[in-house]
Amino acid sequence: MDWKKIYADKLCTADEAVSHIKSGDRVVVTHACGEPVILTDAMVANADKYGYKNVEVVHMVAMGKAGYCAPEMAEHFRHNGLFLGASTKTAVFEGRGDFTPIFFSEAPELFRTSLPVDVVLLQLSEPDEHGYCSFGVSCDYTKPAAECAKIRIAQINKKMPRVMGDNFIHISELDYIVPADEQLIQLAPPKIGDVQRKIGENIASLVRDGDCLQLGIGAIPDAVLLFLKEKKDLGIHSEMFSDGVVELIEAGVVTNACKQIEKGKCVATFLMGTDRLYDYVNDNPTVVLKPVDWVNDPRVICQNDNVVSINSCVEVDLMGQVCSESIGLQQISGTGGQVDFVRGANMSKGGRTIMAMPATAAKGKISKVVPFITEGAAVTTSRCDVDYVVTEYGIAQLHGHTLRDRAKQLIAIAAPEFREGLKEEYNRRFPR
Ligand code: COA
Repeated sequence: MDWKKIYADKLCTADEAVSHIKSGDRVVVTHACGEPVILTDAMVANADKYGYKNVEVVHMVAMGKAGYCAPEMAEHFRHNGLFLGASTKTAVFEGRGDFTPIFFSEAPELFRTSLPVDVVLLQLSEPDEHGYCSFGVSCDYTKPAAECAKIRIAQINKKMPRVMGDNFIHISELDYIVPADEQLIQLAPPKIGDVQRKIGENIASLVRDGDCLQLGIGAIPDAVLLFLKEKKDLGIHSEMFSDGVVELIEAGVVTNACKQIEKGKCVATFLMGTDRLYDYVNDNPTVVLKPVDWVNDPRVICQNDNVVSINSCVEVDLMGQVCSESIGLQQISGTGGQVDFVRGANMSKGGRTIMAMPATAAKGKISKVVPFITEGAAVTTSRCDVDYVVTEYGIAQLHGHTLRDRAKQLIAIAAPEFREGLKEEYNRRFPR
């Protein structure tokens, strides 16, 4: 059948589309900047009208309003976060939602097995001449969840870029289509202060020409990019990337020429940025998005040589154990792809892993180098996996070093005002 006829038959409004969600359903929402805000908002706005009870809303990074996490929505929705953020962490902390620890690379398998998907809410590009829509900026777990969902509801948005890769779905696979052309969620480039610049400079000193980079989210990865302008032939195989990478591509610094897999192409599983990034990736054959169980699989990551993973964390103890996702028992984010990339980089020939953080938090009141991981906090990356730890005060290199030497190096990159206290703990631990 002509796909245009199929398309026309499936058209409906957002309010009609969400009427197909039933009490007790598990609803998976497209990740991060790909969120179909018109559908998530309609789901929340119609909760009373459709009498939803106990609808489980599952996703990783939430960039929309996350109205289903509001206290007054508690009887309608329960959030199950695979990664928390500002709009979702309070619901979990207050017991109105839950957190499920998972490596990002394993999220698709979760949806195929223990968390079967009743409904998936998607946001897709317009169909091409063959009737295929791109998942645009969010392929990650979204495409795998769409493949196994019982009901697929899609916002079709002509502003969603058509991003290449294993990133398409045919109109015939969708159940309900809601056309709505809205600006995508934007993530403005973060403010980079002196501390971030110094950290960026320290990290850049560990990056060599020809390296293949993974960059996390936030001010630190963006600050690194400022100091990479003199490098040559860098590659990108990253969970995500933002506007900063576009600058390096346009400056001829990122060429992907030295990669072993997907040579000449930037690879990611999702993208977060502004229209500058979204315009750049639209219909661009040098940018490839694939599902997260391929992009973040350490066995795939390590097929490139000289992989450098750059991530951030909450605190590091004197043994080199890294907590990246909780402050004590309070979950603030998730494991995400950190361990996937640390492991992949460690397995890559010539690979390096970098954990970067400001030396202090809470306006200088708290040291992020700590004697012990805070009680109740999760160890995200183990001491055996961690190698370089970077702050504004320098670089510690831990892999292959004794506990004694690790502690010494970490104290040397802690903020000066906390070093005495850390040394006292060192002396207790290593009296001779
Ligand atoms: N003790 C107490 N509070 C701390 C703290 C510490 N040791 N370290 C950070 N915080 C607080 C900050 O003050 C900030 O509080 P606020 O929200 O009230 O301002 C909050 O925790 C977040 O810290 P910040 O440094 O602003 O976070 P960030 O945006 O740079 O992100 C991580 C840092 C660690 C949370 C983030 O990188 C992450 O979630 N990592 C795990 C996942 C990952 O690495 N994925 C792979 C890359 S995509």
